[in-house]
Amino acid sequence: MAAIQPEVINNPRVLSERLGALRREGKTIGLVPTMGALHEGHLSLVRRSKSLCDVTVVSIFVNPTQFAPGEDYEKYPRVLDADLACLESVGGVDFVLAPAPADMYPEGFDAHVHIGGVTRRLEGEFRPTHFDGVALVVLKLFNISRADTAFFGQKDYQQAAVIQKMVRDLNLPIDIRVCPIVREADGLAMSSRNKYLSESERKEAPILKKSLDLAARLVSGGATDAAEIKYRMRALIETAPSSAIDYISIADPDTLEELDAVEGSAVILLAVRIGTTRLIDNMILP
Ligand code: PAF
Repeated sequence: MAAIQPEVINNPRVLSERLGALRREGKTIGLVPTMGALHEGHLSLVRRSKSLCDVTVVSIFVNPTQFAPGEDYEKYPRVLDADLACLESVGGVDFVLAPAPADMYPEGFDAHVHIGGVTRRLEGEFRPTHFDGVALVVLKLFNISRADTAFFGQKDYQQAAVIQKMVRDLNLPIDIRVCPIVREADGLAMSSRNKYLSESERKEAPILKKSLDLAARLVSGGATDAAEIKYRMRALIETAPSSAIDYISIADPDTLEELDAVEGSAVILLAVRIGTTRLIDNMILP
């Protein structure tokens, strides 16, 4: 039996109307926000939405407001046909919202969203305008879809923390589900940006996960000194010749404030450039 193609809608208002009608019939709506170049990580979010919600909407939009000048906005992969084929293979996606930038940010658009606290450190230091752009587009997507539940990947741990804080601070009527990181067989966290890696860089990229595994082993062996754990991770990562570390952080899982000692739960987050490709990864320590 041929799989059903999702209905592709460019105009956010049209999607709002379609979803409004379904909501009035009592259907629950799941939203999976993406920038396209879909991979198994995104598909795991789609499957989760299908298992929890009556209607699943995937948004595919390379959001200009979350890229700073000089970042990879222009070169970010845009492969809508391949993405639709991918969603068709999973099946059960009802709508794809694929707007043009002018559909989301029409002439005269002039609104800003800033979430404080968890945006300050880590990605916030290296990409100071990034989370304002993420919060803005995600808030718009929540309002357009009025989804009951939205699904995000743990790979972007700080992004998920920002969105959860936005939902709490602004009393948004939506449930946020953060789904586990999906990895390649060698441990590399799936990401649309992995496509930028050359063959030799791709071989080096699993060093991020190896350093997280090392930290987990040190902690389960009784290590508590965060500085010592980060030192050992740094030494391991630096064995990869193309690597340059932006940060390694051992932080409180909720506030993302840096910890001196790993005594309760913690999250280890890192950003490492392999050649010119910036990769992020993380691990929650129980
Ligand atoms: O994680 C992403 O792909 C993007 O940051 C998101 C949440 C779709 C907003 O553009």
